[in-house]
Amino acid sequence: MTDLYQQFAYDYDEFGSIESYLGDEAAFFDQLFKEHDVETVLDCACGTGQHLFMLAQLGYQVQGSDFSQSMLEVAAKNLQEQGLSVPLRQCDFRRLEEQFEETFDAIVCLTNSLIKGMRS
Ligand SMILES: C[S@@+](CC[C@H](N)C(=O)[O-])C[C@H]1O[C@@H](n2cnc3c(N)ncnc32)[C@H](O)[C@@H]1O
Repeated sequence: MTDLYQQFAYDYDEFGSIESYLGDEAAFFDQLFKEHDVETVLDCACGTGQHLFMLAQLGYQVQGSDFSQSMLEVAAKNLQEQGLSVPLRQCDFRRLEEQFEETFDAIVCLTNSLIKGMRS
């Protein structure tokens, strides 16, 4: 697969900083996750880490994975700047079961990640 975000990763946050996601979307997920007793969440296309930040701020135990090493590099920097230590892993979300031994209460894949994915 080709990593379509290899260069774009470093400009991706021009769409908004990771702190800018703490609005209605946060309230939506918090309500949904509370209804389903969710404590642990994997964001399997975590990009630059905004939803990891959002969910960590809400108190969830989060981990992130993404196919793009560049997006993960930006995510690691963003999360470190927020004082958060979040496990991140390079992984194609079609192969999660091969890469993760642990299980999660919820797995999210957000913001066009399914259709703006990789070309085989
Ligand atoms: C539009 S960005 C969305 C990033 C983030 N979820 C957000 O809300 O900003 C799409 C992300 O999906 C990732 N992605 C696409 N196909 C993937 C795959 N097969 N496995 C893992 N990540 C993938 C890309 O690397 C990119 O980080």
